[in-house]
Amino acid sequence: MPDGASRSAIGADVPDTRKRIVVGVGGGIAAYKSCALIRDFTEAGHKVRVVPTESALEFVGRATFEALSGNPVQTGVFTDVPQVPHVRLGQEADLVVVAPATADLLARAVMGRADDLLTATLLTARCPVVFAPAMHTEMWEHPATVANVATLRARGVTVVEPASGRLTGKDTGAGRLPEPEEIAGLATLLLERPDALPRDLEGRRVLVSAGGTREPLDPVRFLGNRSSGKQGYAIARLAAQRGAEVILVSGYTAGLDEPAAVETVHVRTAEDMKVAVDKEAGRCDVVVMAAAVADFRPSTSVTSKIKKGAGEPDAIALTKNPDILAGVVQARRDGEIPASTLVVGFAAETGDADGDVLTYARAKLRRKGCDLLVVNAVGEGKAFEVDHNDGWLLSADGSESALEHGSKALMASRVLDAVSAALDPAGGE
Ligand code: CTP
Repeated sequence: MPDGASRSAIGADVPDTRKRIVVGVGGGIAAYKSCALIRDFTEAGHKVRVVPTESALEFVGRATFEALSGNPVQTGVFTDVPQVPHVRLGQEADLVVVAPATADLLARAVMGRADDLLTATLLTARCPVVFAPAMHTEMWEHPATVANVATLRARGVTVVEPASGRLTGKDTGAGRLPEPEEIAGLATLLLERPDALPRDLEGRRVLVSAGGTREPLDPVRFLGNRSSGKQGYAIARLAAQRGAEVILVSGYTAGLDEPAAVETVHVRTAEDMKVAVDKEAGRCDVVVMAAAVADFRPSTSVTSKIKKGAGEPDAIALTKNPDILAGVVQARRDGEIPASTLVVGFAAETGDADGDVLTYARAKLRRKGCDLLVVNAVGEGKAFEVDHNDGWLLSADGSESALEHGSKALMASRVLDAVSAALDPAGGE
């Protein structure tokens, strides 16, 4: 059987699309989270080799890593010598993910040390390499670590921004390992697109709205929509990982975790969202309105539950909500926010007898006055509540490009490419 092919149940040769992923584990308390990461990769069908440092084994036992990956686990370069693992693992890998990466491990990688299997693997890897650091805030902010991170990034390595929050002891701050699902998502994006995480948004402030608003009728009922928030959260997450300072104004989502290194503000109604967006928009280089804002709200919202009663129900009277996106564009026209603020809108369209998706989208771009419009065709299981998406990107200068089908993270990376290209080069760092 040729290399890279496997035999299916019916005997035909089918291409083996499974990727070889090396998961490096550093010696920190967050090593336990690598177990969930390994499981995410194996469940996605990838071939996983776990390479812990000796000190990582102080936190999680070798047997756990072997059981989760289905492969033997070693830490040194003198085990299994005929297989030359210290060279082969790195050479053959499609992706190396180090999680958690301790301050010591980052320093050893910068120095090009090769005194254990993990550092030797890092030296021989020619695939995308991702470090997900986890350490105390003081260590993360120390000039030595800051310089090491900068060096690794300059070499083309992805060093994930850590989350903020509760650390090992009672202290809180930047340095928490992002959730395994988030690391897996970023790593998988690099498998789809190795250049998806440049640091091109450093020094920029980006506001992203996401999720759906809920417009209350009474204390238990509301008018809402099917937005999961996934696309907006993916944009916020990636913008932060591309170096931006990100404010995420979030309505209701399908239970999504707050992205690492993002300031998340939770809102309920369209009016709340407008207040939150208007407060921050003037301080941002980019405003991305990915939220599904309810166009209407019940004209009256009562404080006690509406009873069914004996007769027919009353019709619900509706009032139009403010158009938040149009408001930001107007504020820019009026000089209330800088003229350089880039405004990105979203449009979910179905098309009908009077026009197709793109015809409606072009009209919406003109009507809203934004700089870029991300267009999704919806209906028939597309766009809402699913993990994959496709669409078009329309620009106010008349250019149009197709957004190829892929994960919402891949879509987010394409949208941010367009944002990055359209930003005023005088801003940022
Ligand atoms: N939007 C907004 N405020 C609203 C409604 C929509 O800011 N009250 C934003 C959305 O976040 C999105 C864009 O406007 O970026 C387009 O939303 P969409 O619902 O497609 O547009 P509408 O103006 O509501 O047009 P339609 O008649 O197609 O519903």
